[in-house]
Amino acid sequence: MKAVYIESYGDTNQLKYGDLPIPDIGPKDVLVEAYAASVNPVDWKIREGYLKERLPYPFPLILGWDVAGVVAKVGEKVEHFQVGDEVFSRPATERNGTYAEYVPVDERLLAKKPTNITFEEAAAVPLAGLTAWEALHEIANVSPGQKVLIHGGAGGVGIYAIQLAKVFGAYVATTASSANAAFVKSYGADEVIDYHTEAFEARLIDYDVVFDTIGGDVQAKSFQILKPSGMLVSIVSLPDAKQADKYGVRTGYFFLQPDGEKLARLGSLIEQGKLRPVVGAVFPLEQTAEAHLLSETHHARGKIVLSIREGR
Ligand SMILES: NC(=O)c1ccc[n+]([C@@H]2O[C@H](COP(=O)([O-])OP(=O)(O)OC[C@H]3O[C@@H](n4cnc5c(N)ncnc54)[C@H](OP(=O)(O)O)[C@@H]3O)[C@@H](O)[C@H]2O)c1
Repeated sequence: MKAVYIESYGDTNQLKYGDLPIPDIGPKDVLVEAYAASVNPVDWKIREGYLKERLPYPFPLILGWDVAGVVAKVGEKVEHFQVGDEVFSRPATERNGTYAEYVPVDERLLAKKPTNITFEEAAAVPLAGLTAWEALHEIANVSPGQKVLIHGGAGGVGIYAIQLAKVFGAYVATTASSANAAFVKSYGADEVIDYHTEAFEARLIDYDVVFDTIGGDVQAKSFQILKPSGMLVSIVSLPDAKQADKYGVRTGYFFLQPDGEKLARLGSLIEQGKLRPVVGAVFPLEQTAEAHLLSETHHARGKIVLSIREGR
């Protein structure tokens, strides 16, 4: 099968497009014939070797942890999927990824693809959508009438976070550059702060939740806008405990644990028209290096998708 893989850590020159054997599957695995994958910042962070202590991989390593496609084969203990099902998934990071024509996935991490979207749109959802779901629903428990600030609203995670916060009934402010103001508003943001020209901490006050997808100073300044007992949840780094005490706010930080049942809930929101996949750019699998370079700018809009197979 065709795949994009690395044989050592480094820059985009390490990305090889070539043939690897179709992987074997375990008894609880499904073999997905991939139509599309997507690129997340974790892909190039792994490519660079930044996570090699936490995730020690053997080479060759196929990158990518989002996939949409069709079930080609099922293990003997698979219960919920059949050959021919259209599916999407954020597979486990502990095994080879999704920049490939065939991807083995534990069925617990798989969900049926929503019927009203394409494979490219479906591949743009799992990792970023599940991350936004976990932050806003499971950790911050956003509820109607709350005020929520989402940092980086134009990014892969942020654009789903805006939509989910609206589904949960919140008032949503977001930081983005002015070129992305209309874009984030079109997905439901009530208020946009151009972080290049305005300090969000000077405008916003008494927020219930801040979702930090940026880190650093942006995270540090976020304490100031929260009301006492408000919640700062980050996907970039653990918020400072002393600052949390000083402002009397709660904090959260996590690394996504994927789950097929939760993904199915996102799929249901998509079928109800309450959540829209956001594909900002599509590259053929052979041009994965260009897709990584775009992601590495930190200014991609929505999700970057890799097209693996024509059709549907
Ligand atoms: N812990 C986890 O489980 C987990 C899961 C997913 C992602 N992450 C991490 O979360 C981060 C975000 O991921 P992502 O996929 O959303 O990234 P992304 O798609 O690459 O984010 C790009 C967006 O960030 C915006 N941006 C850049 N600097 C900004 C700033 N100072 N203020 C506001 N917006 C800014 C850009 O908007 P403009 O062009 O308008 O500036 C751009 O649209 C990454 O570090 C990723 O590794 C962690």
